[in-house]
Amino acid sequence: SDHCSYEDADIVMKEWQHVLGNGQSAPILLRTANVIFSGLFEKEPTSRDLFTRVNVGDMHSGEFLAHTLRVMTGLDELINKLHSPAVLDSMLAHLAEQHAARDGVKHDLFYVFRDIMYSSLSQLLDEYNPDAWKNCMFHILYGIAGAL
Ligand code: HEM
Repeated sequence: SDHCSYEDADIVMKEWQHVLGNGQSAPILLRTANVIFSGLFEKEPTSRDLFTRVNVGDMHSGEFLAHTLRVMTGLDELINKLHSPAVLDSMLAHLAEQHAARDGVKHDLFYVFRDIMYSSLSQLLDEYNPDAWKNCMFHILYGIAGAL
């Protein structure tokens, strides 16, 4: 994958803003997360077990919604830091530790997560630049999962 250039980062941040729209972003984040996690569990059924602590058995429960909101607001913060590499990398290092601490969270699952995320984005966005997303999400996902 190519380096996430300043221009790539601009495109990703602008397109991500289009996903969120101008108003309340939590409902959109939750809906997007639901699509991604449902897709992940369909493709990799055993990955469900990683989320028992957050009550994955009821994906509409407060616990699971809170979990998905943590993931999506985390993603939002990372995307918004694409122009601040030092801050971004320290956030990624912290997330890498939090994921490495969970047994069973494997590198491969991030590929599945990524592919579902890309197909959701391409459906949500009229203007979607796959190369910019590929370049910048590689940095983000590798930053979290590179050592797994
Ligand atoms: C927890 C972010 C992808 C598995 C979390 C938390 C955040 C987060 C912020 C909460 C951390 C904490 O409170 O300890 C992200 C982001 C991702 C991502 C930004 C992608 C861009 C994934 C993937 C998996 C995964 C692909 C594997 C299937 C987990 C697990 C937890 C977790 C098992 C702990 C759930 C619990 O609280 O019991 N993630 N995550 N994450 N994540 Fe991720």
